[in-house]
Amino acid sequence: MTERAELGELLAAAREALGHAYCPYSHYRVGAAVRVASGAVHAACNVENASLGLSLCAERAAIAMAVAAGMRAGELTAVAVVAEKGVPAPCGACRQVIAEFAAAGCTVAVQSGDGGVRMWTAAELLPDAFRALP
Ligand code: THU
Repeated sequence: MTERAELGELLAAAREALGHAYCPYSHYRVGAAVRVASGAVHAACNVENASLGLSLCAERAAIAMAVAAGMRAGELTAVAVVAEKGVPAPCGACRQVIAEFAAAGCTVAVQSGDGGVRMWTAAELLPDAFRALP
């Protein structure tokens, strides 16, 4: 599969997950899908809470799904995010969590409400990330 087809597949998985967003407070639906070195894809949506600070971004929810299925640090090869409006970029907390699991060259793509896609590497989004492990 070409890189372009793989990105399209990942964005489609993120879009499908966006349909399950639980966002009764912000009304801002987000879906994310991650690809693991094995080729596996895991998707999730944002999950909000009445205690607003507990709200979970779609990116971190998708990474948690991947970890629960066996992903380990260095195995995250791509992240795709779809938001229904605006021109988002992953929040700081998600950048740090992406950095924890990112493989070298891990791609992060975000599709905004108007259909445009922005892309970075994980290292571009968070240079000099905090790392506790050697
Ligand atoms: N959100 C995400 O899911 N991903 C981001 O990168 C930024 C924000 C969610 C959190 C919250 O549920 C809603 O969008 C509004 O901030």
